[in-house]
Amino acid sequence: MLSNNIAKPKAHVCPHQISFILDNWIRRLIQPPVKIIGPYIQEGNTVIDMGCGPGYFTIDMARMVGAKGKVIAVDIQTKMLERVRKKAQKHGLAERIVYHIADSDHIGLNQTADFILAYYMIHETPDMMNILQELKNLLKDGGKMLVVEPKMHVGRPAFEKMIQIAAGIGLKAVAYPKGKGGRCVVWAI
Ligand SMILES: C[S@@+](CC[C@H](N)C(=O)[O-])C[C@H]1O[C@@H](n2cnc3c(N)ncnc32)[C@H](O)[C@@H]1O
Repeated sequence: MLSNNIAKPKAHVCPHQISFILDNWIRRLIQPPVKIIGPYIQEGNTVIDMGCGPGYFTIDMARMVGAKGKVIAVDIQTKMLERVRKKAQKHGLAERIVYHIADSDHIGLNQTADFILAYYMIHETPDMMNILQELKNLLKDGGKMLVVEPKMHVGRPAFEKMIQIAAGIGLKAVAYPKGKGGRCVVWAI
């Protein structure tokens, strides 16, 4: 008998052992977080850093949302979240951040957000459609989601395919900003 439980190919995930390549002064010069995500975040917002890695964006997000806001840092690697926690403590921002460990094909959050960032992470997911559907459900009415994918790993056809899939589940592409460090789309519902 055929089973629905077909094994999915494992996507490559950036290992926590080399997370230093994601948070260093060179990246800060090339991809300043405030320039990339500043236009989408207001004080008091709830925001999700999906696939936060070592927290390159999370810490700045925590500053941007202020004392009344909240950042939900999501990753599948506990070591990444530990790094975020340590940095947040060092900067006195730990209270503003919730640390959430996800499964690779299921986020498991039930809180909606004003803004979701998925930076260099969608291509690492084994079931893109499923993750996009879940992310859509986490977006508040009027909320925005910024997705940036690395040109090195995601070609134009693959990126366009993702946008097509997203459109099919009700994510409207409202902008394609330049200068964010890769192939980029902003979605709204
Ligand atoms: C290339 S890193 C980018 C990290 C961060 N967004 C940045 O730009 O510095 C991708 C991150 O996404 C995480 N990731 C991969 N698949 C994921 C999934 N299905 N759910 C949550 N996080 C995931 C990885 O563990 C890794 O930390």
